[in-house]
Amino acid sequence: MSVSKAVSSQFSSQNSIENRLQIQRLVEATRIVAPSAGSDVVKGLTQTPKSLPPAYFYDDRGSELFEQICELPEYYLTRTETAILKQCAGAIAKITGACELVELGSGSSTKTRILLDAYNQLGYPLRYLPIDVSAGILESSAKQLLADYPSLQVYATAGNYELALAQILPTQLPNRMICFIGSTLGNLKPQECDVFFSQIIEPLQVGEYLLLGVDLQKPKNILEPAYNDSQGVTAAFNLNMLEHLNRRFQGNFDTTQFEHSCFYNETEHQIEMHLRSLRSQIVKLDALNLTVNFAASETILTEISRKFNLDILQQQLTTQGLIPLNVWTDPNQWFGLLLCQLQRA
Ligand code: TRP
Repeated sequence: MSVSKAVSSQFSSQNSIENRLQIQRLVEATRIVAPSAGSDVVKGLTQTPKSLPPAYFYDDRGSELFEQICELPEYYLTRTETAILKQCAGAIAKITGACELVELGSGSSTKTRILLDAYNQLGYPLRYLPIDVSAGILESSAKQLLADYPSLQVYATAGNYELALAQILPTQLPNRMICFIGSTLGNLKPQECDVFFSQIIEPLQVGEYLLLGVDLQKPKNILEPAYNDSQGVTAAFNLNMLEHLNRRFQGNFDTTQFEHSCFYNETEHQIEMHLRSLRSQIVKLDALNLTVNFAASETILTEISRKFNLDILQQQLTTQGLIPLNVWTDPNQWFGLLLCQLQRA
């Protein structure tokens, strides 16, 4: 594990961006030292049906494409959640008081600005701990935020949630709030959710907070276009995972021989995103010593995006000791934002 403090002697001012930024890179550390790196890929591609871990979406190109998805006309999630946040950020800041913000999957941190503004307006100190698998987007958005918020301190971690959450230091502010927005919870399988909640609770003290943004159940004709956009950005995002694997594990996936395929499974209440092999073919990933056979039309599951029922989710959170204090939605009830508090023992 390497901690790089972005401090430069060129900048002597107390308030310089470099003095207010620390970046910890768990990703590179994992890549270099962990002999298990890529074992998740081997596992996914050797089982039936085939699957790949969604974390491999997010190389720098993938993170860029993801930002474009968020702007698509069909992708209602981001703008709906943003509108809800604008409505309730002030109320959230009042409820939590001065609060360190930890964000999982922070990406461009665009929505986080709404929260930072609310805390700023109440005169609270701003401490932000973004966690993202993509070191590139983490660093560039942290620098942008630091330029825009002169009193902000950023402690960024490039890595997966599990590792990053396990090594968070105690907060220096009266409270901490973990932000898990963008309906990323929906990208976890139901059995992964409970494990995840226990990892989230770990760095929280009793009385501290979780802010959770989730996409809600709605008709197929609204859901499916959000993941099958007319400009093909989601398709490019999905296929980019294969390019990422090629680069990272010396592979020879030919992205013209796979297609994006995505549908809503109404029984499971989840979008399922696949890559379909257009013909029978053999793919090699040299660094993993792996040869994979694909039948024509065989698919790889790359992502699920579950759609929630607010009542059921609130019960589940309560069972985990995360008590929903407030729930905000948009007028269509398409998206939900829940402020939960870790129960007193
Ligand atoms: N969590 C969001 C969603 O489920 C964003 C997201 C994650 C996403 N993976 C994706 C969007 C893959 C499109 C494709 O919608």
